Amino acid sequence: MPEPVRRLGSKDLGRALDLSPTEVLPLLDQARLLKSDYTPWRDTFRQRSIVLLFEKPSLRTRVSFEIGFAKFGGTAVYLDHQGSPIGLRETIADYGRNLERWCDCIVARVMKHTTIDGLAASAEIPVINALSDLHHPCQALADFLTLVERGFDFQHDRLAWIGDGNNVCHSLIEMAATVGCGITVITPPGAEPDATVLRDAQARACRSGANIEITNDPARVAGAFAVYTDTWTSMGQAVDPARLKGFAPYQVNGALMAKAGPKALFMHCLPAHRGQEVTDQVIDSPNSVVFDQAENRMHAQNALLLNLIGTPSNDPLARNARAHARASE
Ligand code: CP
Ligand code: NVA
Repeated sequence: MPEPVRRLGSKDLGRALDLSPTEVLPLLDQARLLKSDYTPWRDTFRQRSIVLLFEKPSLRTRVSFEIGFAKFGGTAVYLDHQGSPIGLRETIADYGRNLERWCDCIVARVMKHTTIDGLAASAEIPVINALSDLHHPCQALADFLTLVERGFDFQHDRLAWIGDGNNVCHSLIEMAATVGCGITVITPPGAEPDATVLRDAQARACRSGANIEITNDPARVAGAFAVYTDTWTSMGQAVDPARLKGFAPYQVNGALMAKAGPKALFMHCLPAHRGQEVTDQVIDSPNSVVFDQAENRMHAQNALLLNLIGTPSNDPLARNARAHARASE
């Protein structure tokens, strides 16, 4: 049975910037290997377990983690927190300190990103952000896997994001900044990405050479390798009809894709709101790779899991002994 190949510098994956440039490309390579054949890895996580804590609904993330971990022989336990946020029944820190005694990794989908930080600070085991109000790093890993499969060239090609400057957009910007590719973010006025996320991504981009452009002009899709959009109202946000009116020129429809060019791919993290941010004609076109993105969630996350929890230093017995020692300090 092959050993997991390497550890990541960070214990957790809270945001895409937690991965260094030298970690992303090997992760994508590993994901491609897994995608071609899981057989050598089928017992890697036998008797290991992960817990999935979800404060919001999910199709892709839940299924890809549950089925993905089973491919390694491991067990995934799902905890539904949609009716009761983590931290309500007991503190977030106590939650983390319980879970680290039983399982090898926490995968959490949360309302507030601070919950991810709280879990990561309290538990010695890795915490993977499965979507927060600010970030969706697993999605960005899968998206870059999809782009690489389609021949995306980090040096010369450019991505265009159009719509809301939201959590998925933030992770895409951070991943682009990390791998050093160009990204144009096109939003209605007032829907630009978070200023702190942008500042942090720009700092990474200065080192990687990535070009991050922020604009309100939909015509800037021209020449992009892929046009990416997402819902205009994310989970946990109130629907605001006045705000949504401003999004109309940013719908990805046939006319917008024609501006991008005949080869431009269409991307969406899903779920899509057909007729709102994207038309049926575009999402069902041959240039649409949305279901490849969905499939690749599993392979990208599995590569991540191999690198986060696979090493002997994370052996459950040793880990519990360390946690015990810490508690009695
Ligand atoms: N893209 C994504 O995270 O999908 P789910 O909300 O269904 O998990
Ligand atoms: N921006 C969306 C992504 C869903 C996967 C949301 O947060 O609801």
